[in-house]
Amino acid sequence: MSVEQEKRLVAQYAADMVKDGMRVGLGTGTTVAHLLTALALRRPAVVYVATSPRTHDAASALGLTVDPFDSIDQLDLAIDGADQITPDGWLIKGGGGALTREKIVAASTERFVIIGDSTKLVRELRAPVPVELHPFGLAATLRRLAPTNVRAVALSPDGGVIADYRGEIGEPATLAASLSMTPGVIEHGLFAPELTSEILIAKGAQVHRTNGGTL
Ligand code: 5RP
Repeated sequence: MSVEQEKRLVAQYAADMVKDGMRVGLGTGTTVAHLLTALALRRPAVVYVATSPRTHDAASALGLTVDPFDSIDQLDLAIDGADQITPDGWLIKGGGGALTREKIVAASTERFVIIGDSTKLVRELRAPVPVELHPFGLAATLRRLAPTNVRAVALSPDGGVIADYRGEIGEPATLAASLSMTPGVIEHGLFAPELTSEILIAKGAQVHRTNGGTL
């Protein structure tokens, strides 16, 4: 089975978790694109919020109604992809530059479900770690975070600069705390296991499902 087929399979599996009446957060990326297609076929009666303009536009084009995430104070379910997933449930996210909104949605939902193909499983996290930086004082922030380079992409929808930290990761919790405490860092793409409720991984024709963010 190809990686693309694994993405489609795991996305279709996750789409069945979406039930009438839920408030649902939609992640960003190519795996989530398959999720949108599956949801457009099933059409459950739910309220959606999107983690990026890309997802908003793709969902809308498929006929899904996406609400702004400004007055809904809690979601029931959010489904998103990941760039790397370790056996103990640490994630790197932000390959698509949507890490800040993705983390806000992950922190705002009852259940945060990660979907991935088998290439996303890693023994330990490797650089780069995506970061979103405040444009003010950018050069000084980059100096504090060295080695970090700005990605050649547009600003985030919130005006942040997307960059990639390329240094040692070491203990993810230590790096996550250090990045969070660095002035100028709006958010980073390290997602702690506590954020995630379930991880779904397609391996060939099977979907492996884990609880509690541990594989
Ligand atoms: C976007 C993300 C994506 O979920 C992550 O990059 C995985 O993407 P894909 O499903 O295309 O492999 O974090 O910011």
